[in-house]
Amino acid sequence: MIRGKSIIEIDGLTREDIDSILNSATSFIEVLERKVKKVPTLRGNTIANLFFEPSTRTKNSFEIAAKRLSADLINFSASTSSLKKGESIIDTINTILGMKVNLFIIRHSDSGICRLISRLAGVPVINAGDGKHEHPTQALLDIYTIRESFGKLEGLKVAIVGDFLNSRVARSNIKMFKKMGLETTIVSPTMLLPEDEASLGLEIEHSIDEVIREADIIYMLRMQFERQARKFYPSIKEYNKFLSLDTDRFFSLKENSIVMHPGPVNRGIEISEELMDLADSNKEIARKFKIGKQVTNGVAIRMALLYLILG
Ligand code: NCD
Repeated sequence: MIRGKSIIEIDGLTREDIDSILNSATSFIEVLERKVKKVPTLRGNTIANLFFEPSTRTKNSFEIAAKRLSADLINFSASTSSLKKGESIIDTINTILGMKVNLFIIRHSDSGICRLISRLAGVPVINAGDGKHEHPTQALLDIYTIRESFGKLEGLKVAIVGDFLNSRVARSNIKMFKKMGLETTIVSPTMLLPEDEASLGLEIEHSIDEVIREADIIYMLRMQFERQARKFYPSIKEYNKFLSLDTDRFFSLKENSIVMHPGPVNRGIEISEELMDLADSNKEIARKFKIGKQVTNGVAIRMALLYLILG
């Protein structure tokens, strides 16, 4: 039961919690397909959507989810650089708390800040991505999309490819995949892996060619240039050689496999320009690309969370 709880990281959710979120998302998908895409479920609740980092899909996805449930929403965007870390975000939270909000959604560049705020706030907090720590709603919409694509989860082989070191999406997803019975391989060069990579307890490869024929799910991570304090990879050419999904590699994927990416895609880095263009224009190729589905399912997952926490 997640009623009244904060959603900070995947370890805070039981398998039953995850199942109930996914099942409830299915009923909200149905609402989203109606002509009038709105239900009165959260009327009278006020939600604060606080984004201290740029975001297109996550911020708008939460906003649409709250509005479809008839909650009132306060949007707050700020770049972290203009705020003094720690103290000033807590001042901001206290100010907004004074306005009697029922729930906070927070994205911030400091790892762990959502946990801190959830201890202080006295109302539920949803982590919409905190630094390099976690991004639990992304992992929920991803597992939903996988279950929808395959009709099952147990035993599927997933390869997570790219900038593992700086990725909160990867950190949430490896925990999610383990909990739900998928077999995970990380594909990343040593310089984009944590120094204690063995502690991950996962199989590690250094080239996408090692997994391309076997994986049911190829999960491409965004190269996190903004979270890299120094240059982590020699050149884009080098990245393309070992890690990018291009048209040739795409054609060696397994028959029913799928391609995922949390977005936004750095075209020409994680996925080649040519393949991205083909995915836009060729139906047969587009069938394997679940990036659009991830976005659509994200709204239903966030509606389910808001409903289960506040309803
Ligand atoms: C991810 C994020 O910002 O964490 N995008 C998203 O929320 N859809 C992408 C990433 O930076 O890994």
